[in-house]
Amino acid sequence: APYVVGVDLGGTNVRAAVIDRNEKLLGRAENSSEAKGGVARTVAAIATAVRNAVKAANVSIDEIGAIGVAVPGHIDVPAGMVRWAPNFGDYVDGTYVPYKDVPLRELVEKELGIAMVMDNDANVAALGEFRYGAGRGTRHLVMFTLGTGIGGGIIVDGQVLRGATGGAAEVGHIIIADGKGSSPNGPHGRLEVLAGRDGIVERAALKMESGRDTLLWRHITGPEALQQFLTPKLIDQAAEEGDALAREVLEEIGHFVGLGIASMVNVFNPEVVVLGGKISNSRTLFDAAVRTARASAIGSILAAARIVRAELGDDAGIMGASELAWREMA
Ligand code: BGC
Ligand code: NA
Repeated sequence: APYVVGVDLGGTNVRAAVIDRNEKLLGRAENSSEAKGGVARTVAAIATAVRNAVKAANVSIDEIGAIGVAVPGHIDVPAGMVRWAPNFGDYVDGTYVPYKDVPLRELVEKELGIAMVMDNDANVAALGEFRYGAGRGTRHLVMFTLGTGIGGGIIVDGQVLRGATGGAAEVGHIIIADGKGSSPNGPHGRLEVLAGRDGIVERAALKMESGRDTLLWRHITGPEALQQFLTPKLIDQAAEEGDALAREVLEEIGHFVGLGIASMVNVFNPEVVVLGGKISNSRTLFDAAVRTARASAIGSILAAARIVRAELGDDAGIMGASELAWREMA
């Protein structure tokens, strides 16, 4: 078949694109992923995005060889099962129940009549960068995706590292502080708890609560908790304007990311470490991460590793998922 469809299934939207053998994107579509409306609605949302992308690309659905899907969570790739995905679930008697052991591949294949393969979103982004982006020409890559959660993808000798049940490379869950304390997300010492979206915003709010001067006060327009008004983007804008508090926040977050990079570099000896997610474009954060990684990793191992930003941006999921589909067909 001449085409595949790459699908990026997110907690808010699902995006799909038809890709040809020359990596050309022929048409795309996007709609709500119905992530918390039960699995039947999510399957229908995926099918809608795929059908609309096929329509937009002006090809026939019979010409689609396979569909690749990126999903945030623990994905058992050979089994086609979502083992755990906290952002996807259903309300049962008013209580939210996240996905556990959902046979998403079988359900989507039944709906569309096309072979489907899925993997963890960050594994897929890493595959996309490896094949089409910042990791082109390498064999060993470590990727961090910085966002609401922190994801990871590790490529060893050209292959995505998946582990026994697909759970490998959860770099957001490595413990980089003492690990004491608890939160709904697990021990406080996890990279994701410290340096994920909420961690960044909370850190800024905490510093502001002591009454310090910062440009960030201009965004506080009501009595709600400070973090309601803040976003990583606003914090980075203030840092770019020279704001000391905002710079401090992003330097501390970058330091945590750098500790994560150093740990992964020492374990996997990659040729390239790719930082993705919008906040990785913060110069303050990125420079701090590189500084800490250089100060913390074994120098002779780090010497092989370029630390770079992702190149595919918002299309990493779609492009990586299309590569997953091509590999499935091969
Ligand atoms: C999840 C990962 C996911 C990452 C990015 C983390 O919270 O554990 O599976 O890759 O978020 O979406
Ligand atoms: Na991963």
